[in-house]
Amino acid sequence: MSRTVYVNGNFVDEADARISVFDRAFLFADAVYEVSAVIGGAMIDNDAHLARLRRSLDALGMHMPCEESRIAAIQNELIRRNALDEGAVYLQVSRGAADRDFKYPKNATPTLVSFTQARRIVDDPVAERGIDVVVVPDLRWKRRDIKTVGLLAACMAKQQALDAGADDAWMVENGMVTEGTSNNAHIVTGEGGIVTRQLGNEILHGVTRAAILELSHREGIDVQERAFSVEEAKAAREAFITSATTFVCPVVRIDSQPVGDGRPGPVTRRLRQLYIEMARAEAARSKSDAVAR
Ligand SMILES: Cc1ncc(COP(=O)(O)O)c(C=O)c1O
Repeated sequence: MSRTVYVNGNFVDEADARISVFDRAFLFADAVYEVSAVIGGAMIDNDAHLARLRRSLDALGMHMPCEESRIAAIQNELIRRNALDEGAVYLQVSRGAADRDFKYPKNATPTLVSFTQARRIVDDPVAERGIDVVVVPDLRWKRRDIKTVGLLAACMAKQQALDAGADDAWMVENGMVTEGTSNNAHIVTGEGGIVTRQLGNEILHGVTRAAILELSHREGIDVQERAFSVEEAKAAREAFITSATTFVCPVVRIDSQPVGDGRPGPVTRRLRQLYIEMARAEAARSKSDAVAR
């Protein structure tokens, strides 16, 4: 079924959507993006995604194309027009179209694009069985905290993982795991605490990572924000990834070696369950707010 997408002020059929060949997203990956999960027709933690969008834009000397509330209205309208119950809303802002030149153009109008993708998130069979990851060198640039559309190194790592018969890759720099191709990496120690890399320029500051750390604190689960090595990950009791569209997903093998007993572990399962409950509650709240309005 053809989707309705949003491009620069217009809701159009995906077949009719047009972007200039001079758009700087196309020529330079001069654009940032966000992906917000949708369950029960409502976005999860979208305020945090829009706050990160602003931060990414700031880092590149760009401005928000409009108020956050206007962006959220566009996202919600796309969900409505596409009757999206579960999946994601993708949102991208580029510096706009200008004749090809490295320097930032002075008067370009930002390009704002958004579309929906339907997919199973809560009852995702992959989260039930867990994923296999392989370890690959992190070939990305040094500002991974900015969520740019320059994702080729991550695509290469993902394809390398699939070619090796795995589901995803964990990227490694100086022997330490940075993150997954499109998710943050976490391990569970022998004592049942969580270890996840500290925030910095080396990783994306995941919205789901932040929510899971907050939930862990509330549950009395010990959290250490520090780098961990591939060896430590392979010897961990459990491992998992977090992202907007996978929530919390167990990692059951690293480089073909089982993590713990090779099955999703109790800490990971508990955090996934808690996150789903939190997301469902948020979805129910935004639905009732929308009815009240
Ligand atoms: C490299 C990378 N790390 C982490 C994440 C997870 O971030 P979030 O939880 O905000 O989706 C993503 C999401 O796309 C990502 O691309």
